[in-house]
Amino acid sequence: MKAGVKGVQDLEYEIGFTAGKNSSGHFQFVISENADIKKWEYVGLNINGSIVIGRIEDIVSKSDLMDESIDYESIKRYTENKINDSTNMSYVNVLGRLENDNLVQSREIITPGLKVYKLSSAILKKLFSFPDEESLYIGNLPDTGVPVSINIKGMRRHLAILAQTGAGKSHTASVIMEELLKKGASIIVLDPHADYVFMKKDRDGKIYSDNIDVFRTPLSTGRYSRDDIGIIKEFTIRFQDLTADDIKGIMGIKDNYTQMSPLIDDILKAMKGKKDLNDFMNTAEKLPQDDYRKIKGRLVFLEKIREIFSDYTTGIKDYLGPGKMSVLDLSGMDQYLANYFSFRILSEIYDSKISSEFKYPVFIFVEEAHNFVPPRVNSNIAGMIKKIAAEGRKFGIFLTVITQRPGKIDADVLSQCNSQIILRVTNPIDQNAILQSSENITESLMEDLPSLDTGEAIIVGEIVKMPVIIKVRDRETKPGGSDIDIISLLKEARDEVRKMNNPDEIKKKNKNLLGDF
Ligand SMILES: Nc1ncnc2c1ncn2[C@@H]1O[C@H](COP(=O)(O)OP(=O)(O)OP(=O)(O)O)[C@@H](O)[C@H]1O
Ligand SMILES: [Mg+2]
Repeated sequence: MKAGVKGVQDLEYEIGFTAGKNSSGHFQFVISENADIKKWEYVGLNINGSIVIGRIEDIVSKSDLMDESIDYESIKRYTENKINDSTNMSYVNVLGRLENDNLVQSREIITPGLKVYKLSSAILKKLFSFPDEESLYIGNLPDTGVPVSINIKGMRRHLAILAQTGAGKSHTASVIMEELLKKGASIIVLDPHADYVFMKKDRDGKIYSDNIDVFRTPLSTGRYSRDDIGIIKEFTIRFQDLTADDIKGIMGIKDNYTQMSPLIDDILKAMKGKKDLNDFMNTAEKLPQDDYRKIKGRLVFLEKIREIFSDYTTGIKDYLGPGKMSVLDLSGMDQYLANYFSFRILSEIYDSKISSEFKYPVFIFVEEAHNFVPPRVNSNIAGMIKKIAAEGRKFGIFLTVITQRPGKIDADVLSQCNSQIILRVTNPIDQNAILQSSENITESLMEDLPSLDTGEAIIVGEIVKMPVIIKVRDRETKPGGSDIDIISLLKEARDEVRKMNNPDEIKKKNKNLLGDF
């Protein structure tokens, strides 16, 4: 049945009538018998020619005859005689009034008895799209398949991707990176678990983009194959290029370590040779015994990571460029070494942006952000991320923080993120942290978080016209760091055990050990 009212192209067909007590922010309606409508779908009302749009938050089926107090025999009798007085009620959250394909605040009175319509796919498509230049296509509405894009302009005020482990954060971030790349964005990814290192390739293993560089360090534990080696770059540092503060940073010696810090300055002053790492180590050994003992542990660490030093310092010109994405594989590093590398890169970028040396927008993705900027920690990297969160947009640096521990990340950083993509979260503590972190997130949206499937996400904030739940689209690039295949590995282990216990195998093994005698 067509709506037969103004806005007929937007309202598809009637699915019920409003009933009971309604406010301008919420309404309820009785669902007509044949209506094909589900939770999370979008509905519309025509109020004096204005189309008011809402999203179904819940659907409740109830019956007066067959209420909770009914006994078994009675319900059996009703059912067998096809007596059914049930009503399906739908509860709707009003999202706004439609004006030129956009939503504006709705203050209309919603009286009982208004016809409720299913929104047409055509209007949904318009509501979830943006002009091409601004639009990043990241997924679809779960039931209708309507494509959903986010607005690149909304990313100016930073983005948080939040979810429990395995819910699809890295997948979602990769999809956004793919889309940003198509738009010519400069992208930097701090990647502690080597999740993004295969993005240079597509899912068939062919080169996806020549504009992606992956930098590993000699400490990286990312599982690269022989084929990948040729396309991976090394991120190295020339020891001679390091300042005293850099060296202290790498060694994990903080400003307030008053015993150790001056010793590093002493060693640097006393160096007479090539001023490389060997020179540094040899000079350190000549310190008075007591002093040497104080920093011995840190020197052992420096020796352990010796391989990150070479005769070249990877610099901003290597990893920042128009339309270029650089993934920094930080796997295999202690957190404070990862902090040092990340700080080095972000501060170089920040400086080049505030001096306008690099004029294009830079998008920075911080994976496992809670480790870089935990609450109440004043490390260099935490300070830098907070600075970018607070002021970055003025200089064209836009942050995406990704974390499975929303309660364990600096609250200011989270609250500076004006948009959120939230995937499944079942832990109440994390749910609460998300609720506290932004006014975009309502309790009713929170209720949906535990029931999301992998790859389903709630998007709120400036990147969308209205809150939406989507299924994030497939990746175009090759996934990295995905879960190990536990089932096939267990099967392999069982085969191994079977082989070991096979009498023929045992005989063969003994024969090999003892020979024929
Ligand atoms: N939208 C999606 N479509 C298809 N598969 C998906 C989608 N989202 C996630 N997955 C798959 O689910 C698995 C977990 O996803 P992902 O690694 O992105 O989770 P995560 O939240 O980053 O987890 P972790 O906290 O462990 O890093 C991966 O195998 C990924 O390919
Ligand atoms: Mg991940």
